[in-house]
Amino acid sequence: MFASLASTRLAGLAPARAAFASSSHAVSWRTNGRRISTAVHFYQNRVLEEYASKPATRLTLRQLVFFGKSMNEERLIKSANYVRTELPIRIAHRLRDMQALPYVVVTQEGVAKVYELYWNAFDKFRRYPEITNLEENDAFCAFARGLLNDHKSVIPNLSLGLSLSSPYLLPDRLDTFMRRMLVSRISRRVLAEHHIALTQSIKSQGLSPEARESVGIISTGLKVQESIEKCARYLRKRPRDVDDDALTGALSDADWSDVIVDGHQDTRFAYIREHLEYIIFELLKNSFRATRLKHPTARVLPPIRVTVVASDNDVYLRISDQGGGLVSPEIKSPADLFSFSHVRNATRLAEPRLGALRTLSSSQRGMTATVSEQIGRGQPGNDGDVPPDSVNPHPRIGIGLPMSNIYATYFGGSLELVSLDGYGTDVYVRLPKLGKNLEGIEL
Ligand code: COI
Repeated sequence: MFASLASTRLAGLAPARAAFASSSHAVSWRTNGRRISTAVHFYQNRVLEEYASKPATRLTLRQLVFFGKSMNEERLIKSANYVRTELPIRIAHRLRDMQALPYVVVTQEGVAKVYELYWNAFDKFRRYPEITNLEENDAFCAFARGLLNDHKSVIPNLSLGLSLSSPYLLPDRLDTFMRRMLVSRISRRVLAEHHIALTQSIKSQGLSPEARESVGIISTGLKVQESIEKCARYLRKRPRDVDDDALTGALSDADWSDVIVDGHQDTRFAYIREHLEYIIFELLKNSFRATRLKHPTARVLPPIRVTVVASDNDVYLRISDQGGGLVSPEIKSPADLFSFSHVRNATRLAEPRLGALRTLSSSQRGMTATVSEQIGRGQPGNDGDVPPDSVNPHPRIGIGLPMSNIYATYFGGSLELVSLDGYGTDVYVRLPKLGKNLEGIEL
């Protein structure tokens, strides 16, 4: 709707450089530096500017744990009001980024929808009244949960829009924009989900919880080997990807490599389980698939080796497979696999991938119903049943690696791919274990 409205109005204004300025019912644009807007649009942008000019108050993982450890009613209310006032600031920064996009990007499928979702969330958060007691906090949690659900389709919509925009945006600009959007989204979801989890734990365990295995959404003694084994088990239960080329029929046990965990197997650290398991799940998924495709006639597939090492400051994971490496006609360098631009990664404009993104963008399932996100919600050590959505083959939308990279770097870690061309791939993940780094959001 936005696209057609804007393009009708802009007809004849070439060469126009237009940008979002408001929600679908209130559109304005810039052309050759001249702003055309109604008073309503002007007011709305003034409100946005007011929020966008404030810096985000960034936190460390350690602060999230310490604050949540000694919870009482007063602190819970403080946490609620922090989320209430912080989220509109963080959303405003990204709305402003979207307003600065060239018009050709704005009109791509998916982008306008994300803008609408963010404008709506910004408006609702900024108008939300102060929370003063537990009852109001419950209502606030229900409100935040609703928005978290509404935003499940953001990643497929954004990926679709940015993939379609990639012929018109320089790859660096596109990747910088996308990275800022995704990191900021993770940060907002962390704050909202952490607060909701703190509220739930107070309800189930009373106001003075003693030492627990988790504080909010942070597992205080996350067992890395257990997470690796859990992800491997889930993957084995999962049907093949829809484009698992060269292979047909159901997968049997022989289609799965063994996963060998070595190194410091008893490593535990404080981290967000969902983030760690997202990364492990996606990396193992790639390794399993590559190994299967590289050795189509092998009776026993070569194993995948995961080496875990804990140093004083970091936890390292090296995932080594014999899946042939990462070279392909579409990908020149392994780092290009993190790119959302078709210039660096031609698969971004491949029709099956766009089709899968379109399906996810328009479904209510969005991204959080994927297996990788669902397993993150399980209780420690309990991998539950095969999630319902794994009955059908999964579409491959190609964002597992870039998202894993963003999760790894979010609290100051790293993810590097080394292709041993023709043989296999080593992925090195480093995650800081002391939780002293600020969230990696940009202002
Ligand atoms: C998102 O998921 O994109 C968010 O910004 C979440 C927030 C509205 C609670």
